Amino acid sequence: MASRVAKTTLGALAAPLSSNCPFLARTPALHQSINQSTQLPALVQSFRGHCPFLGSVGHVSKHQSNNQSINETANQSVNETNKLDGLSKAYAEAKTVGANKFLNPAKMSQPIAQAESVAQSTDASIKQSTNQSSAETADSIIASKMAALKREGRYRVFIDIERQSGEFPKAFHHHPDAIREHSVAQSRTLQTNEQVKEVTVWCNNDYLGMGQSEVVLSAMRNAISRSGAGAGGTRNISGTTPYHSRLEQTLAAAHEKEAALVFTSGYVANDATLTTLGKLLPGCHIFSDALNHASMIEGIKHSGAKRSVFRHNDVAHLRELLQAADPTAPKMIVFESVYSMDGDIAPIKEICDLADEFGALTYIDEVHAVGLYGDKGGGVAQRDGQSDRCSIISGTMAKGYGVFGGYIAASSLLVDAVRSFASGFIFTFSLPPSVVAACEASVSYLMHSQTEREHHQERARTLKEMLIAANLPVLLSESHIVPLMIGDAKMCKQVSDLLLNKHFIYAQPINYPTVPRGTERLRLTPSPLHTNEMMQKLVAALDSVWAELGLPRQFNYVTINGVIHIERDEKGAPVTCCSMSENTAAVPSSFMGAIDAMPNNQMSQVAA
Ligand SMILES: Cc1ncc(COP(=O)(O)O)c(C=O)c1O
Repeated sequence: MASRVAKTTLGALAAPLSSNCPFLARTPALHQSINQSTQLPALVQSFRGHCPFLGSVGHVSKHQSNNQSINETANQSVNETNKLDGLSKAYAEAKTVGANKFLNPAKMSQPIAQAESVAQSTDASIKQSTNQSSAETADSIIASKMAALKREGRYRVFIDIERQSGEFPKAFHHHPDAIREHSVAQSRTLQTNEQVKEVTVWCNNDYLGMGQSEVVLSAMRNAISRSGAGAGGTRNISGTTPYHSRLEQTLAAAHEKEAALVFTSGYVANDATLTTLGKLLPGCHIFSDALNHASMIEGIKHSGAKRSVFRHNDVAHLRELLQAADPTAPKMIVFESVYSMDGDIAPIKEICDLADEFGALTYIDEVHAVGLYGDKGGGVAQRDGQSDRCSIISGTMAKGYGVFGGYIAASSLLVDAVRSFASGFIFTFSLPPSVVAACEASVSYLMHSQTEREHHQERARTLKEMLIAANLPVLLSESHIVPLMIGDAKMCKQVSDLLLNKHFIYAQPINYPTVPRGTERLRLTPSPLHTNEMMQKLVAALDSVWAELGLPRQFNYVTINGVIHIERDEKGAPVTCCSMSENTAAVPSSFMGAIDAMPNNQMSQVAA
């Protein structure tokens, strides 16, 4: 874990630090992190010419010889970083595939242009500061990056939420003063005080409320009584318990696979598995959906495999890329089932058909679907009868299962290979038995009960209908995720603050880089435990906040390869709706389905 933190921190710091670095070559931990970091090319590029020690670092030399040309790799990496920094990845992708046909980019890119100008002014101030001492320079560079983040309105403020056991989705919101002045237990007695307030949580990923289920809690308590708090070691050295082995068997059964392997999180499961498989297969070529989660993108990068990105959910584009690839190369298609921000679902069958045709492995992330779909909770692939066609399924036990930890399920051979070679599995502590026992109870329970799944779907449908009836700009997703569009980072934060402080409703603002700039939103996640009364209160509160802030109730937007683009006027304000019938001819057929599903004149997806 320590090396992961070091690695991540280094990666984040590398790009902005461009001056002298007397400390860089000194610490062994840093050496190791640098060696492991896939950001190495970016680091090398950033420090080259400024740091006299860099050239003599053994690991760097080794890395150099491993690459055809360090310059090439470094430049490529820097370009990639710039691209990601300056533009939203999704927007860039859409632009290259013909968004211009449907959109006026000048109109659509207003918030992106603003973000770019913030980035440019930050870079200018960074250049000015290069004459200062290196420590001062580092501080001022980082401070100006932070200031830019705040100016853009996407600085993340964490809200202290104490869930109430047995009362989900109710929770206590602790004001920062309460945290400073009282223990958590003490502050409970302050419930009537200004500092601690009861709220209803609407952005929780404990989708089914399993984190509060007595089945799960009693399994956790029993395991603590029997085994204590921690696991005591890595999986290899005294950290495998009967709880772990049983959980892996249960997960395999839930997915109807031969085997499963538990990781410390879904993120680590994706990163470690993709890194390992990409490295194990010589010449491996990975085909990755454009909207894949960061954990998969990192895993693919770490694997060093050749990577082609296909447009989101676009099987025709995937086919083109597969056709163009070396027919003898081992191939893997990497995608998600439910995309968590728009709530859309992958064409799993069509992707598996292509995988069969081109002899590719399939890697599906079912993180937002496990426990929620399929008759054993095995996800959308199971619901659609495609599980056996997915070579590797990855999941989390933190969301639908309500606890913590990640996993993969696959053939015994693949699982054994990842178990044997994955650094992210081998060199980290095993999950505590109590957590593992709770996970097992949850997975087992949801293998047999359909009640929660059915109720969950009904709740999501009901909330969407209520939002539509209130003329609020809900995105009609095909899954349980209910995005409510705002389209501006600062407004999004204001909406969230008003909901929390005035209406006692907690919905965290969702902004870049989680979603493309200009598509900021609330992401509402109704669970089976959200009652009609709670929904009515939510909708009334939203209606009042929308009126108070004068927010648009309709957007003129298009979805291009699954990426939403909101049309804007010259001032950057969202353009509100025109009627569908006027624009139908111009609307690409790829989003007719979504339009059909929309009630008359609510949210129209129209071309500019
Ligand atoms: C698609 C996807 N995959 C993987 C993860 C990581 O899962 P975990 O939270 O268990 O690390 C997330 C997290 O939100 C996700 O959205």
